[in-house]
Amino acid sequence: MLDGYHLLTLTHRNAPLETIGKMVVQDHASPLLHDLKDRLNWEEMMYIATCNRVAFLFYRQGPVSQDIVNEAVATIRPDLSAAEQEDIAAQMLLLHGADAIRHWLEVAASMDSLVIGEREIIRQLREQYDHNRAAGNTGDHLRLLMRFTIETAKEIYSQTGIGEKAVSVVALAFGEMLKSVSDRNSRILLVGAGQTNTLFGKFLVKYGFRNVTVFNRSIDNAQLLADALNGRALPLDALDHYSEGFDCLIVSTAATEPVVTPDRYKNLLQGETSCKTVVDLSVPNNVDKRILPAFPVRFIEIEGLKQLAGENLAFRESERIKAASIINERLYAFRDQWHERQVERSLSHIPEEVRAIKERALYQVYGKEFAALDPQAQALVLEMMGYMEKKCVAIPIKTIKEMTRKQMGKIVRSL
Ligand SMILES: NC(=O)c1ccc[n+]([C@@H]2O[C@H](COP(=O)([O-])OP(=O)(O)OC[C@H]3O[C@@H](n4cnc5c(N)ncnc54)[C@H](OP(=O)(O)O)[C@@H]3O)[C@@H](O)[C@H]2O)c1
Repeated sequence: MLDGYHLLTLTHRNAPLETIGKMVVQDHASPLLHDLKDRLNWEEMMYIATCNRVAFLFYRQGPVSQDIVNEAVATIRPDLSAAEQEDIAAQMLLLHGADAIRHWLEVAASMDSLVIGEREIIRQLREQYDHNRAAGNTGDHLRLLMRFTIETAKEIYSQTGIGEKAVSVVALAFGEMLKSVSDRNSRILLVGAGQTNTLFGKFLVKYGFRNVTVFNRSIDNAQLLADALNGRALPLDALDHYSEGFDCLIVSTAATEPVVTPDRYKNLLQGETSCKTVVDLSVPNNVDKRILPAFPVRFIEIEGLKQLAGENLAFRESERIKAASIINERLYAFRDQWHERQVERSLSHIPEEVRAIKERALYQVYGKEFAALDPQAQALVLEMMGYMEKKCVAIPIKTIKEMTRKQMGKIVRSL
């Protein structure tokens, strides 16, 4: 049954990020992970680390006691004192069977993430599974579960709104900007070339905006971002004499004083009186708010976006119930798949045996008679024997799979 699956994990729900960091192993091929698997007699193991959890998914037939938690911590962190090891172990969660698989599926569907519905987790799990496999720690049981996990997570994303509606400030700001700046030739000025504007720039590229100028304190960083946007780079003080006007101004620097002062803003306007869109993603604001009553402007700032992010997050949360019921349904499907696979594996010797019987018949039992046949007759016998071989292999596999399916159907109905 599924009792062989277990999950040992440390997550943001029951431990601070600092503690989680202590159980991170640098490399999936690390001898520490091999040691852990060997010491605890795990048949297969997959280790994952994301920004808010570490987890050891493992397969082992037979009982698994709570004592393994301390042993696991001691193996991964032999350098820590016994008290420190115990402190980490006390915050770890050990789940078994269907509970372990359910939690694993919830992780893949990003139902247990800091921000619910981050699709990125599927890619991370896939990549980390590949590393674990390359390190030789996984086998058929985890391969089967991983395939099922990815299918389930995709189903959840397509059938629920768990990953819908943006919750990141930059994505929301871009969405808001699009409402008033839709012309891809609009004159866009970016002030700042740090992480935030770089992320914003990715949206500009994706949506085909082609008239972008980057202003930044260090011209090198401005140039880097401008290159990525196919735009122009200028130093920050060029804001004082820039004369080409603008439609949209996006400001995001780590300065603690306004970078876009009323005088600078007036210069940037170049006498234009149309309503401009200004996006200020800095904390504190980098656009002096005295411009608001003085000029026609649609002002987008973090404060308003935070509220929208909260509403969107609440929507995603409300989809959690649908996602949980998909997981409950899918657990039955996994039970069936797992059983079918065990049947397949237990019958894997049959094709070999049938082939051996065929070879014996052709070259030993009827060896002389077969050799005496002309080439045409030999070819026909070989074709017929090949046909029989395939049919003989298929019969027991089909029969046992059907029996298992019926048996599983009874179990599911009785639950
Ligand atoms: N990162 C996020 O996810 C995020 C999300 C929402 C809001 N924010 C806010 O956005 C702002 C920028 O964050 P970030 O993550 O993009 O920062 P960052 O990657 O550290 O980049 C900082 C940017 O600000 C410029 N800068 C720093 N001090 C300055 C000063 N005194 N005058 C003019 N320019 C200055 C830097 O110019 P150089 O290239 O010359 O160093 C660089 O372009 C912050 O207020 C932050 O709170 C960040």
